[in-house]
Amino acid sequence: MNNHYESRRRGWRRSWSFVAATTGATIGLGNLWKFSYLAGENGGAAFVLAYLICIVVVAMPVMIAEVVLGSRGRSNPVSTMRDVSLEAGASSAWQVIGWLGCIAGLLVLSYYSVIAGWGFAYIGKLLGGEFVAASAQLSGDSFNSLLAAPELLVQWQALFLLIILLVVALGVRRGISAAARLLLPLLFIMLIALAIYSSQVGDFKAAAEFLFKPDFSALSQEALLVALGHAFFTLSIGVGAMMAYGAYVPDQRSITGMVSTVVLMDTLVSILAGLAIFPLVFSLNMAPAMGPGLMFVAMPYGFGNMIYGNYFGALFFLMVSLAAITSGVALLEPATSWLAQQFRWWRPAAAVVMIIVVWLLGLVTIFSFNIWQHIEVFGMSVFNLLDFVTANLLLPIGGVLIALFVGWKMRKEVLRDELYVESPQIFWLWRWLLRYIAAPGVLVVFLWSLYPWLK
Ligand code: PHE
Ligand code: NA
Repeated sequence: MNNHYESRRRGWRRSWSFVAATTGATIGLGNLWKFSYLAGENGGAAFVLAYLICIVVVAMPVMIAEVVLGSRGRSNPVSTMRDVSLEAGASSAWQVIGWLGCIAGLLVLSYYSVIAGWGFAYIGKLLGGEFVAASAQLSGDSFNSLLAAPELLVQWQALFLLIILLVVALGVRRGISAAARLLLPLLFIMLIALAIYSSQVGDFKAAAEFLFKPDFSALSQEALLVALGHAFFTLSIGVGAMMAYGAYVPDQRSITGMVSTVVLMDTLVSILAGLAIFPLVFSLNMAPAMGPGLMFVAMPYGFGNMIYGNYFGALFFLMVSLAAITSGVALLEPATSWLAQQFRWWRPAAAVVMIIVVWLLGLVTIFSFNIWQHIEVFGMSVFNLLDFVTANLLLPIGGVLIALFVGWKMRKEVLRDELYVESPQIFWLWRWLLRYIAAPGVLVVFLWSLYPWLK
């Protein structure tokens, strides 16, 4: 995205490139690591259902809207918002969507990179045979010892950030999209195989009930907000990433069609990951609500007791890391392209500056697992607070603003032109959801779930 005129000219002519790149940005730690631990913490099936509803009626319409903005503006999120609000005759204050996105993206990347670092560390642990015939206890101890070592965490996080830096600085996103095309089928095959394996060695029935048989009394007010926030997080919306990728939408292809494909794949990956993790969790009597360690404790146990488990396990964590890389690239892109274009900086230099910011911010997350372990703000660890503020507040706020702008400010003809939908009903439904459900819905969830706190 060195030069947006160039990108417009060349574009990604075929829609698979756009779909592959967007899928790469969407499928990541959110699906493999976060979805299952959130479901575990928030009461299982009722949470899953709330999450799915949020995806369909709120997040997906907003995702389409964000791609539309990108495809119209074809620049970094800040300039895009400036141009489209000018075109719509709206206030330039809408640029705040771009700013908010860049900041939220950097904040998310600051902890995303730490978790991705765990993924790297686990490739080594598995190859080193640490989990051969492991007990659940050993698996848990191994995770805790990693968290207790800030120097290791910093090292792995730095490696992850360096890789992201290379990709974003060199602007080799085309390569990434080609890689995503290859990786995606592999990820699916691997997850299906793992789900089958753990349903045989673990308690599949308990897992299926936990994930699919809703008990609404288990759904707290806060859980609803978490479900909403995760819908935004998993689809990578509200941080300007979809705007950046929307700049590469091929002409005369239905955006709704392409986005639906991406959403479907993202959802499938999360469910499959849940089906791979929870049978083990239940057969081992692990606590589903144990938090961010869930995948890192359950899966290695499974691999440790499988033939060739070391290799499969290393491969699994390699896939986790690769999925995290393609998402990390998307998180860094908005701020980097803004800095580079705004001040006519050399792109790699802009990427370096942003990476340093992220790396320093990442120390907060790293320390929250060890030397700052005892610190609590609003009853949350520092890491939980950061996650809560970004995923559950900033992303939905960005999403609401996008829904309001695209739903109420942009002209219908412009939207029709960009969307390229075949059916007027779909267009009508999408715009209706944006106007009357997405924005008000998020506000209702905010008020409902934050009320106990504000009281
Ligand atoms: N959607 C990504 C995931 O599920 C995370 C992400 C959020 C990436 C926002 C880019 C922007 O892992
Ligand atoms: Na995702």
